Amino acid sequence: MTIFSVTPNHLARAADTLRGGGLVACPTETVYGLAADATNPLAVARIFEAKGRPRFNPLIAHVRDLEAAERHADFTATAHALAQAFWPGPLTLALPRRADAAVCELACAGLPTIALRAPSHPVMRGLIEAAGVPLAAPSANRSGHVSATTAPHVHDDFGDALGMILDGGPAPLGVESTIVAVDKDRATLLRAGAIERSAIEALVGPLHAHDGAGVQAPGMLASHYAPRARLRLNAAAPRDGELYLAFGAEARAAARNLSPSGDLTEAAANLYAHLRALDAMGAETIAVAPIPQHGLGEAINDRLVRAAAPRA
Ligand code: TXA
Ligand code: MG
Repeated sequence: MTIFSVTPNHLARAADTLRGGGLVACPTETVYGLAADATNPLAVARIFEAKGRPRFNPLIAHVRDLEAAERHADFTATAHALAQAFWPGPLTLALPRRADAAVCELACAGLPTIALRAPSHPVMRGLIEAAGVPLAAPSANRSGHVSATTAPHVHDDFGDALGMILDGGPAPLGVESTIVAVDKDRATLLRAGAIERSAIEALVGPLHAHDGAGVQAPGMLASHYAPRARLRLNAAAPRDGELYLAFGAEARAAARNLSPSGDLTEAAANLYAHLRALDAMGAETIAVAPIPQHGLGEAINDRLVRAAAPRA
């Protein structure tokens, strides 16, 4: 078994594994990450290999704080303001990459930009600290599959192929970080996520919409975050043979409920675990209740639409 409890010994061993170019899966406040030394291209290549991820997809470099991030990217006043307001936490900034950045080109997929985030989860922070290097960490799921929010989810996707999975309990937020690209003072929403649009806009004004040009983020691919079952969205009730993923108190015949009280934060935290559970129940089609589009509903609906998209 490759699932380890979080103890000082196991953290030290994980840090050794990372410094030696190996992979460690660990919790963050959003979802579980599959971490490698971001400065070591061989280690980063192992991430792509393990995930079966298309090579052109760049990774987020996780750092301890703003000061560490500034070694890798150029921060404008707007980028500073965002980092100061939301770090440590679930905001990823895509910024112009510094020529002397230690994060390797492979982690950035050769882009002139770099995605950086200072996570708040104590286990991920401890690992960054102990390893002493920035950690490249995509979500710890096989490419295209539902993200993992618990250590057993990670094990379901990878078996014993990973040397170490650190079990820090369920990831508290359950959806990935919000990604904002900042070019001078222009901020563009690349991925809706755990920080609501309104919180960011309160600071920097209306976010620009991504025009689809430039970087192909996997989270932007039409089909992504997908369970094995087909999804039917905005379903008021299940049809014969469907399993129902409900939201709110009205739900009848629900196999799972994202939040009986209609709380979007609770729904985000439950989303991936419920999709995995319905898959495990053998669902051919999962009918999903309508989810309001405000607050975290934007990120939840974004993931659901991609999970429902026709598969390549
Ligand atoms: O919450 C999260 O962000 C989790 C945890 C583990 O931190 N990580 C995560 O990583 O979701 P991943 O690899 O599944 O998604 C990272 C996204 C991808 O869509 C990638 O294309 C985008 O970040 N990205 C990375 N570098 C970028 C860049 N330079 N410009 C634009 N997007 C970038
Ligand atoms: Mg992912």
